[in-house]
Amino acid sequence: MARTLLVTGGAGFIGSNFVHWWLETRPDDRVVVLDALTYAGSLSNLAPVWDSPRLRFYPGRIQDDTVVRGIFLAERPTHLVNFAAESHNDRSLLDPGSLILTNVYGVNVLLEAARRHGIQRFLHVSTDEVYGEREEGLFTEKDPLEPRTPYSAGKAGGDLQVRAHRIAFGTPAIITRGSNTYGPYQYPEKLLPFFITRLIDGRKVPLYGSGRQVRDWIHVRDHAAGIGWALEHGEPGQIYNVGGGCERTNIEVTRRLLELLGRPDSLIQRIEDPRGASHDKRYALDTSKLRALGWAPEVPFEEGLESTVRWYRENETWWRPIVESPEYQSFVHRYYGPYLGQDL
Ligand code: NAD
Ligand code: DAU
Repeated sequence: MARTLLVTGGAGFIGSNFVHWWLETRPDDRVVVLDALTYAGSLSNLAPVWDSPRLRFYPGRIQDDTVVRGIFLAERPTHLVNFAAESHNDRSLLDPGSLILTNVYGVNVLLEAARRHGIQRFLHVSTDEVYGEREEGLFTEKDPLEPRTPYSAGKAGGDLQVRAHRIAFGTPAIITRGSNTYGPYQYPEKLLPFFITRLIDGRKVPLYGSGRQVRDWIHVRDHAAGIGWALEHGEPGQIYNVGGGCERTNIEVTRRLLELLGRPDSLIQRIEDPRGASHDKRYALDTSKLRALGWAPEVPFEEGLESTVRWYRENETWWRPIVESPEYQSFVHRYYGPYLGQDL
């Protein structure tokens, strides 16, 4: 049976990669994207599928009930996948309240629309950061929510809205919690695309604190496939971790980028940690629950990193206008200015 997916936040990094992959691999389905096109979203992320007659785009915010109601009436989605969020920890420290409307209230607006229209599946895309940090072992879906940054607290708030709707109204909702994701079309503010684009330009890269924090990296194609797998094979009411099982310290990843880009170690600028006490030391996910349903990540980190570096080298026309934009420059100056000074 052909499905209509409403993909909110589908013009961002993971959302757009998900949309490309879904349209490529599910030839009978339609995809309707609702995206506010904030600084992090762009129609250029949907360029590879823009001409598809099975794609429809609506500009708008998920917290805008009128817009969401209109789309439900016009498109009658059978499934909803919510990627829309303010997604950057550093920005959330600069302005902690700004994400609540999207990351918490907006989720409620989507849930209410889904309830009115009897959606078949509601998949909420969340993050491993809701569990907090963990120095040893792996987070399972049963671990408590112990977020430590404004961003992750907002995401946990969204997860709890979903949980409440599932329990109170029987909404067929699923939550996925993904680990650090990398690949093409990632706005150049997160570690990998920020460092790659700066290193291409021969600029210094600001490594926070010891650089020994650990992240569990997953390629965006694997993350998108994990979300799709949970949507099609997951059980309503369940949570599924989606991680790459690939732990690396930030310093290891940075050194590898220097090698791939032929840049000297002197471009690493160690700075006092701007995240302070809220900087989570380590994330690592137990993904056996989703693996038991038949999903597994396929892109080895080394290969994914090389292809991502190549993508940024070959797609300067995508990222150069972003890094030269007043919005980006203003964030970088405000956040990194005190640490990088002349090396900004
Ligand atoms: P992103 O910042 O690249 O994209 C977010 C998208 O949401 C953008 O297109 C933006 O325009 C849109 N958006 C923001 N506010 C909106 C609103 N109010 N209404 C409609 N659209 C809005 O983020 P991403 O990295 O692609 O992350 C997508 C989702 O995955 C987020 O929910 C994030 O929490 C989660 N996640 C991200 C990672 C990661 O490593 N990037 C890992 C795990 C989970
Ligand atoms: O774990 C999933 C999360 O991964 C997602 O929920 C978030 O949306 C996503 O942004 C990401 O969060 P992190 O805070 O882990 O990612 P980020 O790329 O911002 O930082 C990764 C690590 O690199 C972290 O330890 C901080 C460090 N870092 C980051 C930047 C931008 C630096 O040392 N220097 C930097 O300039």
